[in-house]
Amino acid sequence: MTPPRESLLFNPARLGSLELKNRIAMAPMTRARATPDHIPTEIMATYYAQRASAGLIITEGTAPSKNGAGYARIPGLYNEAQVEGWRKITDAVHSRDGRIFVQIMHTGRVSHPANLEPGAEVLAPSAIKLPGEIHTDAFGMKPFPTPREMTAAEIETAIGEFVTAAKNAIRAGFDGVEIHGANGYLVEQFIRPTSNHRKDAYGGSIEGRGRFLLEVARRTGEAIGFDRVGVRLSPYGTFNDMPVYDGMAEDYVTLARELSRLGVVYLHLIDHAEKGDGPIPELVNERLHDAFRGPILSAGGYDAESGEIALRAGDAEFIAIGRPFIANPDLVDRLREGAPLTPVDYGTAYGGGEKGYLDYPVREKETACA
Ligand SMILES: Cc1cc2nc3c(=O)[nH]c(=O)nc-3n(C[C@H](O)[C@H](O)[C@H](O)COP(=O)(O)O)c2cc1C
Repeated sequence: MTPPRESLLFNPARLGSLELKNRIAMAPMTRARATPDHIPTEIMATYYAQRASAGLIITEGTAPSKNGAGYARIPGLYNEAQVEGWRKITDAVHSRDGRIFVQIMHTGRVSHPANLEPGAEVLAPSAIKLPGEIHTDAFGMKPFPTPREMTAAEIETAIGEFVTAAKNAIRAGFDGVEIHGANGYLVEQFIRPTSNHRKDAYGGSIEGRGRFLLEVARRTGEAIGFDRVGVRLSPYGTFNDMPVYDGMAEDYVTLARELSRLGVVYLHLIDHAEKGDGPIPELVNERLHDAFRGPILSAGGYDAESGEIALRAGDAEFIAIGRPFIANPDLVDRLREGAPLTPVDYGTAYGGGEKGYLDYPVREKETACA
């Protein structure tokens, strides 16, 4: 089936200074295939190159520093070996005419000392522990530790780490960076009042709780250009023990307005309805769109039909798709042709090698890209 000529989803579109092949972004997905010291591997280059038909690839969460690498075998962007590793990946994607942003993710309290390199620490805005457990390579599942509250100097350092990672990203050949302000990681730990009890300039009202995000966004934009910096937020998301609170809608509208003022290239919103969290209420969605004047990427449970509907309704300018990309390297072709999708094997989602990573089939010879 050929798509209707006027399809928005499958037609090229501009994002800042980039021309994208279509309006489908591959959503960031942690796959834990880097080395134990957080260096990207060769198989990651093949994996991302296989998916280069996405209009934009947003990589898995990538640590800006040793303190930010709280999960085992996630990649980093804070040393030369990591820059070199990523360079092979961006080259592989560009050689297939793809575009790729790296998602910068500082895990904050979602971490464990056993996962951290020597000299690194589990830091967060406040010393508030997460319930539950985290995987460690050394000891299996372990309870989350109580993080140490960051000092003012450590906050300054952490902001600088995001900026350095963004500069490293450009040296590694990325087209831009996405600041991970969602899903309960460090930036969101600052935003939410349940994880941020600070009494200084980085706590209190949304002016304080939003300061870390906005400083990271501002200084990163000043360093590499605002048209190369996107931001991901998850209003109403509860992942990593982030409950909904009174005043949340207002807070996120304020953040969207301030990010718009800075001129970041996109705002990436996750609607968690698919995962059982409540959806972002329609009215809040509208207010976020009014507040942020640039393009919105929308993620959460999309297929070709619902993506096209959202674009036509003006609910988003780009559609980010996650899980279906795991098992369908040629997802864009399959969606365009209405072809069946291969189901995901979640047993191989995190960690391991090529199995469940590089061996998902493509449909046709011409689109095969092993
Ligand atoms: C295996 C896996 C890893 C993920 N890792 C990240 C991540 O590193 N950063 C992030 O912002 N979201 C992450 N997500 C969330 C996805 O980006 C996306 O928002 C979510 O899967 C919903 O979109 P979907 O319904 O199209 O899958 C992950 C999701 C999955 C399934």
